[in-house]
Amino acid sequence: MVEQTLVFIKPDGVEKGIVGRIITRFENKGYKMKALKMFCMSRQFAEEHYAEHAGKPFFNALIDFVTRGPVVALILEGEAVILTVRKMLGTTNPLEAAPGTIRGDFAIQTTENIIHASSDEEAARREIEHFFGREAVR
Ligand code: CMP
Repeated sequence: MVEQTLVFIKPDGVEKGIVGRIITRFENKGYKMKALKMFCMSRQFAEEHYAEHAGKPFFNALIDFVTRGPVVALILEGEAVILTVRKMLGTTNPLEAAPGTIRGDFAIQTTENIIHASSDEEAARREIEHFFGREAVR
């Protein structure tokens, strides 16, 4: 089934200068970019995005981190894109992520883990609307 998902490259990925290499992986795979933007998240925007983690021990550090510089957000489209992109990212903890995955190749810390992608269909719909507005939701 053709789906859409929301991905964003976090400030550490932008700082490391690996935005192009990450996007190339999705293009090589055959996924289409339907929208792309670089911006700095406000604390409110980040807290809304990560609402499910509010109150967890890593929450404040996570919000400080994702708001410290620009992120690059994209909508990707293609067959089974939601689960496949999650596999391409690797596990949340980059030390456990398989070599060949984005986190496996480019990160060593759980908070500064380079990239986010929607976890399932409901999250993808919500996150696409949050990042790109209601008109972007198919
Ligand atoms: P992400 O996939 O964007 O979703 C939640 C983020 O919280 C995660 O990637 C990490 O950047 C960050 N994080 C930091 N510590 C943890 C943790 N112990 N468990 C899950 N996520 C964490």
